Amino acid sequence: EKGVYPHFMLKEIDEQPFVIRRIIQEYEKDGKLQIDQEIVDTVKESDRIYIIAAGTSYNAGLIGKQLLEKIGNKPVEVHIASEFVYNTPIVSKKPLFLFVSQSGETADCRAVLVKIKKLGYKSLTLTNVEGSTLSREADYTLLLHAGPEIAVASTKAYTANIAVLTILSALIGDNMNHEELHHELSIVATVIESICDEKELFDEIAGKYLKDTRNCFYIGRHIDYYVALEAALKLKEISYIQTEGFAAGELKHGTIALIEKGTPVIAVISQDEINLNTRSNVKEVKSRGGNTVVISQKSISQKTDQVIIDDVHPTLTPLVTIVPTQLIAYYAALHRDLDIDKPRNLAKSVTVE
Ligand code: F6R
Repeated sequence: EKGVYPHFMLKEIDEQPFVIRRIIQEYEKDGKLQIDQEIVDTVKESDRIYIIAAGTSYNAGLIGKQLLEKIGNKPVEVHIASEFVYNTPIVSKKPLFLFVSQSGETADCRAVLVKIKKLGYKSLTLTNVEGSTLSREADYTLLLHAGPEIAVASTKAYTANIAVLTILSALIGDNMNHEELHHELSIVATVIESICDEKELFDEIAGKYLKDTRNCFYIGRHIDYYVALEAALKLKEISYIQTEGFAAGELKHGTIALIEKGTPVIAVISQDEINLNTRSNVKEVKSRGGNTVVISQKSISQKTDQVIIDDVHPTLTPLVTIVPTQLIAYYAALHRDLDIDKPRNLAKSVTVE
């Protein structure tokens, strides 16, 4: 039930700190975050992980690749399910297929699962729904424990996916110990909470820049680029504003031609090493008349940034930088008087290919 909330989407955005804490609880055994040893061993023994997913789950998979490679030391490829089934790449010797699907029912993912099972490859499903098709048909399952996600636009499943993949990454590698993992995820929950306490800010940004615009851009570099992709998907699916997520460095290779007076461009800046370069892209956009908004991490922020988020572990920033973009999408759709929980032409689970 929605309770005091006007929409499920807003409720589910607000639930995210709670979901992160529940994931910590659910995966904690004997005072340590743990995953079934057979799953950990299977992932460790594989020579490459193939993440297969669609939509928001695909975008979470892009972050998963960063985590599994940086924290878990395991090479990862991320594939759009509906493409992989035809454009199947050359697969490594000992692959593990990781299906990321909130519903566990996405037909495009299932088509890949059927195909790779015939080839004798191992599979693991990361899903929010126990007993779902992808969960039943894969060798192993990891649950998101996010609680039912009712709004069509996926929010808490995205962060839950990233949180569970963080635990998996820490357990297969040795770059993050148990205490650190627990500590860093707890910080994330607290920071998300404080972002959710600033709703007026996001309402104001959406009202000022997105109420009447026809298009919008999210830009970022490094891990922020993947966040920009999910931020853009969220905004377009519920506000119907044509929105693109771009690698900030690519702007000058073509996209900047689209910037005109008043075009909203929202930059995500969470990493020290890309801070100055992304900021110079923001300046380029501004000098061409674009309306720029900067979402940054506190330690690298500048006074003029509209959204400043407390620092978290550098590889876990997507868990927090995505939240302002979810709220911006929500308020943009609200200002445009749209059906937020049931956007046109979309279904919660897509069971046709
Ligand atoms: C976006 C959205 C869709 C789903 C996609 C995959 O907000 O809801 O893009 O993410 O259809 O669905 P699952 O994760 O159920 O496989």
